[in-house]
Amino acid sequence: MSHLVAPSLLAADFANLAGEVEMLNESVADWLHLDIMDGVFVPNLSFGFPVVEAVRDLTSKPLDVHLMIIDPDKFLERFRDAGASNLTVHYETCNNLHRTVTEIRRLGMKAGVTLNPHSPVILLQDILPYIDMVLLMTVNPGYGGQIFIPGSINKIGELRSMIDEGGYDVLIEVDGGVDLQNAPVLVHAGVDVLVAGNTVFSASDPVDVIRRLREPV
Ligand code: DX5
Ligand code: ZN
Repeated sequence: MSHLVAPSLLAADFANLAGEVEMLNESVADWLHLDIMDGVFVPNLSFGFPVVEAVRDLTSKPLDVHLMIIDPDKFLERFRDAGASNLTVHYETCNNLHRTVTEIRRLGMKAGVTLNPHSPVILLQDILPYIDMVLLMTVNPGYGGQIFIPGSINKIGELRSMIDEGGYDVLIEVDGGVDLQNAPVLVHAGVDVLVAGNTVFSASDPVDVIRRLREPV
């Protein structure tokens, strides 16, 4: 499978959200990545249901929703109704992770689990049979435009081995500090989905940057 690209709207111009989504519609972007922050799990706030619903109404591309919120179980159905195709929760926020991912799937979404940079991939060993995707944070969550943490490359390799050896049908997505230089390295290490915020939205030609991020390596 060639890898996918999911631009993160966190770096978009929200005063021109329709224009930004129209640009993504015309690009080869595979998914639209939407970051939901609660100011508790991460030291920042982003946006909520009205923005997700507005994006849903402007695109036919799948919405890849990344929840950086405590107690995500309260909101799973509402994110499904708002248009999420993929719903990813942080390992660090779930006391009953198996129940959470099972419910996400029951609601008809793909279930993802995210790890913060300090959480080792071995924590996922027993949940891999029940999920569709792992999102490895390659920065500390909360902000766009941060520097990629280099040690993440080893985690990608370890996770790739765990997934391949277990024969699981689970995608590896990375999020944070992805740029045109490290993208090929990440794909070689075993990444299936690249999230990119500032690399896309601060470019003078975002459509071309998305095309370049998506080029086979
Ligand atoms: C950070 C978010 C990311 C962010 C990535 O907490 O989860 O999705 O938008 O932004 P860049 O690509 O600029 O690092
Ligand atoms: Zn994200």
